[in-house]
Amino acid sequence: MQRSRIKNILSDGNAGQSITVCGWVRTRRESKGIAFIALSDGSTQDTLQLVIPEAAPAFQKLTHCNTGAAVKVTGLLKESPAQGQKFEVEVSEIEIFGDADPAAYPLQKKGHTLEFLREIGHLRPRTNTFGAVFRVRNILAKAVHEFFQSRGFIWVHTPIITASDCEGAGDLFTITSLPLERLPATADGAVDFSQDFFGKQAYLTVSGQLEAEFLAMSLGDVYTFGPTFRAENSNTSRHLSEFWMIEPEMAFADLKDDMQLAEDFFHFLCRRVLEKGDSEIAFLEKFYKNTSVTELRDLSEKPFVHISYTDAIEELEKSKEKFEFPVKWGLDLQSEHERYLTDKVFKGPVIVTDYPKEIKAFYMRLNPDEKTVAAMDLLVPKIGEIIGGSQREERLDVLTERMLHAEIPLENMQWYLDLRRFGSAPHAGFGLGFERLVQYVTGMHNIRDVIPCPRAPQTIKF
Ligand code: 4AD
Ligand code: MG
Repeated sequence: MQRSRIKNILSDGNAGQSITVCGWVRTRRESKGIAFIALSDGSTQDTLQLVIPEAAPAFQKLTHCNTGAAVKVTGLLKESPAQGQKFEVEVSEIEIFGDADPAAYPLQKKGHTLEFLREIGHLRPRTNTFGAVFRVRNILAKAVHEFFQSRGFIWVHTPIITASDCEGAGDLFTITSLPLERLPATADGAVDFSQDFFGKQAYLTVSGQLEAEFLAMSLGDVYTFGPTFRAENSNTSRHLSEFWMIEPEMAFADLKDDMQLAEDFFHFLCRRVLEKGDSEIAFLEKFYKNTSVTELRDLSEKPFVHISYTDAIEELEKSKEKFEFPVKWGLDLQSEHERYLTDKVFKGPVIVTDYPKEIKAFYMRLNPDEKTVAAMDLLVPKIGEIIGGSQREERLDVLTERMLHAEIPLENMQWYLDLRRFGSAPHAGFGLGFERLVQYVTGMHNIRDVIPCPRAPQTIKF
């Protein structure tokens, strides 16, 4: 079907031109014998105003053209006398593909709560809010590739089905083709996965890092960008059971290089959103006041504050804030602690480094103090952790020791240890949670509002 996109018409159209557009009716009103339709086709935040005078044959069809209807119109592009819009279309022909019954269509002109819209996930992308969020998501996804490709990183595709638990946290979804009503058992009563599809227990991946490591140890600098799954029972505004993660991995790099990459990456992403998503950000700023152009501009330039975990604990200990969770060297930072550091102390993004080894994954490089590891977490205001990364342990003996300590079955991980046996080298990487990034940039409070089909405990639709 030949059609122009509203985004292109508004940016490159010429008055006097004949155009055909398709889209969904946002609003329809009549005034002094003229019907006005605001049409949206999803390509931009803006709607295109259609003008249909009573005398035009198209006017008769409007009884079947309610809010939500899908239409195709042809007409003349004209400069609009109305404020706030450059063009309007004087319609000569209208074809109504599908009307929407006003008594049943849930998206009416009045605003709806985000909670209500979550219940109609299949229709919410038609709203201004979700249109803005999903277009910003697209800008960011493209920017991820632009950034890494411009720096010579190779995009690698790590598997979704995996046999290893990268984070060692046990938050894995098992995937199986065994008959659930009669699972085969081993002599000691456990499920006998040797009879399963892959001949051993397999999972949905919690991270592509381990596979990205062997690709970095051959291709140099690589990155993955794909779906990630965690079976943690976290019903919060920043956890999903299925989310997307971007994981760069660099050979011949240390923690300092890793932090610099994270900062450059974050700055680049903010800049791209400002350049390509100005009307979306303007909309979100106006309606929710959770994000702002000024804040994004500031973020796209400001160097990150760096603080060690030990100093961060000291900072928290001397604070007068009443925390729900205890603050003590050796305990993990909770999101209330993270937010205290970003929102109250530093008023901006903070990188916390060198966490105690006991609270971090086995693969992080042990520091000379033998108590902490070369880890870094990027914390941002309102959300907390958005990036987690580290320099990787490249010394075979130290890594083996840490894996034994963490009770990781070595027989499954010989391939990982091989990377330390054959041509081992310092390397580092991180993971950026893509939805947390979209959440941060758009200012949406709930992570379930930045992904089309959120998966969370007890929540799955479609
Ligand atoms: O800190 P995490 O667990 O780190 C890793 O998975 C490393 N293997 C990454 C690496 O070094 N290559 O997760 C990284 C990021 C977090 O900072 C957070 O932004 C996001 O992934 N994340 C989640 N996002 C949404 N829902 C969840 N349940 C998330 N868990 C982690
Ligand atoms: Mg983490």
